[in-house]
Amino acid sequence: MLEKMQKIGVLTSGGDAPGMNAAIRAVVRSCSFYNIECIGIYRGYQGLIEGEFEVLTARSVRNVINKGGTFLKSARSQEFRTKEGRAKAATHLKKEGVDALIVIGGDGTFTGAIYLEQEHGIPVVGIPGTIDNDINGTDYTIGYDTALNTVVDAIDKIRDTASSHDRLFLVEVMGRDAGDIALNAGVGAGAEEILIPEENMGVEKMMESLEKSRKSGKTSSIIVVAEGEKSGKNIFELADYIGQNLEGYDIRVSVLGHIQRGGAPSCYDRVLASKLGVGAVEALLRGENRVMVGITHKVVTTVDFETAISGTRPLDKELRRVLNITTV
Ligand code: F6P
Repeated sequence: MLEKMQKIGVLTSGGDAPGMNAAIRAVVRSCSFYNIECIGIYRGYQGLIEGEFEVLTARSVRNVINKGGTFLKSARSQEFRTKEGRAKAATHLKKEGVDALIVIGGDGTFTGAIYLEQEHGIPVVGIPGTIDNDINGTDYTIGYDTALNTVVDAIDKIRDTASSHDRLFLVEVMGRDAGDIALNAGVGAGAEEILIPEENMGVEKMMESLEKSRKSGKTSSIIVVAEGEKSGKNIFELADYIGQNLEGYDIRVSVLGHIQRGGAPSCYDRVLASKLGVGAVEALLRGENRVMVGITHKVVTTVDFETAISGTRPLDKELRRVLNITTV
C-alpha cells in the first residue's frame, strides 16, 4: 500500500448512467475503510476546473445506492479539452492536496484522464459508467443493465399498441456507435429485426424480411434501430422508405431518447458499481495508475486506459445467430 495516499478525489463525467451513485458510494466507503479522505468533485471535469470540491463521508452517501443519475452531477466539459483547462484543474487538485483521482464515465472521460495524468502527473483510475457498454476490458459497464431493462419495458408497451392497431414500429435506442443495447434489448423484447452499427445488413435485407413477415400473415412488427446504425438513413427516412416501397404497413416511429439513461439502477448495476468502486480505491492503493477497473468473468480486473477506449468491441455473433433463428 502506498503510504502517501491520503486524499482521493472522485467525479462523474460524460453521460450519466444508473448506478453512478452506487459507484460513488462504494468509493467513499472504501476510502473511509482505508482511512483516506474522499473529496467529491461536482460537475465532472468542469467542476475540477472551477474547484467545486466537497469532503464526502459515509454520511454523505447514505440512501444513494438506489438513486438514478449522479448526485455529483455530470458534464461534457469543452474547457477540459484544452491544455489551459487541464492546467487549471491540476492547480485545484494540487492546492487541495488530492493525491489521486477516480473518474467514473466512458471513453471521453478516460481520454481526459490520460491527458491529465500525462501533463500533470496526477494518478488516475477509471470506473466504466455508461449505458452504451462500449468499453473494452470489462464485460459490462455500469448502467447498461438498467438501460436494457428500461428499453425492454418500453418495447413491451409499444408492442401492445402495435398489435392493437396492426402497425409496424421502428424504435430507436441509444448506444452511440455500439449496438449492444439494440441487439440485447431487441432479442429480449422479441423484435422482428434489429439494425446495429457493427453490421450493416443494408436496407434491402430489412425489406426482404418485412416482405416475408407480411406474407406469413404477421400484422404487427417491431424493428429496433440503434442510433449509430450505418444504413445511411435516419429512422424517419427509413420509415418513409418502407412506406414508399412496401404496401400494407401502417408505420410509426418511436425514439426512446433519454428515458434510457434515467431510473433506479437494477440490482446488477448496484452490485457491479459496488465491486468496481472498491476495486478502484484498492487499485490506487496498490500503486496502479492510468487504468480502468472492469469486470471479467465476475472477477474485478484492471486494464490500461488506452486499451479500454481502443476501437469497437466485437459483435456478439452468437446472439446474432439466436436472433436469426428466433425471428424465423
Ligand atoms: O454515452 C451515453 C449516451 O446516452 C449515448 O448513448 C448517446 O449517444 C449520448 O450519450 C447522448 O448524449 P447527450 O445526453 O449529451 O445528448
